[in-house]
Amino acid sequence: MSDSWNPNQYEKFKNERSQPFFDLLDFIKPEKFASAIDLGCGTGELTRAMHDRFHPAFTLGMDSSPAMLAKAAEFSSHTISFAQDNIDAWEKPSSFDLIISNAALQWSPGHPALFARLKKSLRSGGQLAVQMPMNHDFPTHILSSAMSYEDRWKTALNGKVYDKPKTMLTVEDYASLLFKLGFKEQRVELKVYGHILQSREDVIEWVRGSMLTYFEKNMTAENYSAFLAEYRERLFAILPDEKPFFYPFKRIFIWARA
Ligand SMILES: C[S@@+](CC[C@H](N)C(=O)[O-])C[C@H]1O[C@@H](n2cnc3c(N)ncnc32)[C@H](O)[C@@H]1O
Repeated sequence: MSDSWNPNQYEKFKNERSQPFFDLLDFIKPEKFASAIDLGCGTGELTRAMHDRFHPAFTLGMDSSPAMLAKAAEFSSHTISFAQDNIDAWEKPSSFDLIISNAALQWSPGHPALFARLKKSLRSGGQLAVQMPMNHDFPTHILSSAMSYEDRWKTALNGKVYDKPKTMLTVEDYASLLFKLGFKEQRVELKVYGHILQSREDVIEWVRGSMLTYFEKNMTAENYSAFLAEYRERLFAILPDEKPFFYPFKRIFIWARA
């Protein structure tokens, strides 16, 4: 798997990005956890924060990105380790009391099957806590998805398209899915975070550290730079030139007990 994650770009909006993680921790019922896993742990700092709050006997941080894992190494200890793996195929039957994932599962296709694998990987009574951005109907995402279908950019993407709107289920479908999968309790909520940015330029900086990494990963550097220039021009034709710029950002919180 190629590694397009750039920890420095991602951490530009560190505080805004870490707040939802701490909000997610508030969904978890403190219990004695023998083993916990953080899927898509990134730089590991938040994995460590979860570990320090709930004190599982053992915590594993898992991510596919060597660049992120290299940063995570500094947060390892005798009770926390980090390993490279791929969420898209991950399943460890009856292995964890707590599975947490912050801002990572939205990259993986096939959510009904993915959540079925997560349920299988929990021990009976174990807790699942997931937070995902749900801003795919904001112009930032609608535009990039539309551009990925245009001949020039589809060719630059080697025939791939950006289809996140089709990956994510609706809020109510996640709730129904948890029920169908046999989770005994659940709490599913949508929250809007209002980010006050200096200008709309910061919206581009924001998505460069997240959604646009898909384009960066799948294009040559030259094509990505041309894509970014066109994307900026077209996005600014839609977003008002307001200072400060109010960036409404929706996120879904999913908590359930197996
Ligand atoms: C937006 S970052 C979130 C990192 C961390 N959870 C946080 O909240 O700061 C998404 C992370 O998911 C990881 N990721 C994306 N797709 C993945 C996959 N299929 N398997 C494992 N990790 C994946 C990326 O490498 C990245 O570190």
